[in-house]
Amino acid sequence: MIYFDNASTTLVKPPQVGVALMEAVNSKNFGNASRGSYDMSLNSLSSLFSLRQEIGELFSLDPLNVALCANVTTGLNLVLNSILEKGDHVITSLAEHNSVLRPLNHLKDILAIEVSYLPLTEKGKINLNPLEDLLQKNTKLLCLTAMSNVSGEITDLSLARDFCKRHGLILLIDAAQGGGTMDLSLKGFDRAVLCFTGHKGLYGPQGTGGIAVKGDIKFKEVFSGGGGNSVNPHQNNFMPDIFEYGTLNLPSNLGLLEGIKYIKGLGIKKISKNLYDLSSYLYKSLEKLDGVKLYTDHVYPHGPIVSFNYKDYSSEKVSDLLWEKGKIATRAKLHCAPLFHRAMGTEKRGMVRASLSTFNTFSEVDRFIEVLKSF
Ligand SMILES: Cc1ncc(COP(=O)(O)O)c(C=O)c1O
Repeated sequence: MIYFDNASTTLVKPPQVGVALMEAVNSKNFGNASRGSYDMSLNSLSSLFSLRQEIGELFSLDPLNVALCANVTTGLNLVLNSILEKGDHVITSLAEHNSVLRPLNHLKDILAIEVSYLPLTEKGKINLNPLEDLLQKNTKLLCLTAMSNVSGEITDLSLARDFCKRHGLILLIDAAQGGGTMDLSLKGFDRAVLCFTGHKGLYGPQGTGGIAVKGDIKFKEVFSGGGGNSVNPHQNNFMPDIFEYGTLNLPSNLGLLEGIKYIKGLGIKKISKNLYDLSSYLYKSLEKLDGVKLYTDHVYPHGPIVSFNYKDYSSEKVSDLLWEKGKIATRAKLHCAPLFHRAMGTEKRGMVRASLSTFNTFSEVDRFIEVLKSF
């Protein structure tokens, strides 16, 4: 089996991820964090703090500004619902995933927020040039993906950062694809929130993710419940408590801690360069193949994602044939990014997406091309 669907989830994890997860369940050493002063509860509390420290280091922010939750979708929903108020205006882009588009549509319905969309360049990159034109008096937030999950194109976050600084806006970053695959240091950012998911480039288990905050941002309560000071009739209104209600998924978070340590061991710069070399090899091999249509460029820095179509086949057919003939896993259709595909003219056909991880190899790419050639 060749697994080229790492943008959905990294299936192959460093072995220590599963070991840590099982250990948390089997050892009886990990109780509920912040619920007692006995060892098992304290073990969980300190392990979760280690995880916050690793995440803080990864994104260059204070560990106590890291709230843990189930995935990036939950994080984005929490932040959007927490920050936005009736009549606010948001700038986002056509490259966004439904985990941004749908919460914004819902907030349009219930709070009459306004949303403007940055267009894409011909090659599927977010075009930030119209930012100043889209600015309104009521603009509160700029919400952008750090890396497109369809094209692998990286967003110019320093430009977005400067725009937000100039106009006093909050920058909300969807780091689903960028987390662990590119440098996402928030050093020098003013007021920014970065939502990440644990199970993709951070190599943690599914059901992990979080919200990392830089700067002074006021959040309102969205969900509330147990945890922290029991006397307070409301959720504590500071990080991380404001976004952490109920019991966290400790075993999976211990797995995530190992995933992040694995990344740290390799080094982000090296990871992004290695992934670029491998995905460029895939891109160039596809370019040489008759009948392949590529939609984007592949120029460094670029994520390890290559999307294409082949001959007259539908994208589903190509993905199905790759699996049937070569046991190669890819993803077809729209990748939860309908506006991206509409802008690129592939709304009906979609694209076949091959997305790589540090566990993929050049010989797997060769085999992928061989199997494609066979149909
Ligand atoms: C850009 C982007 N945002 C959000 C998500 C949602 O991730 P999750 O399902 O982990 O919440 C994905 C997943 O594919 C993604 O690629």
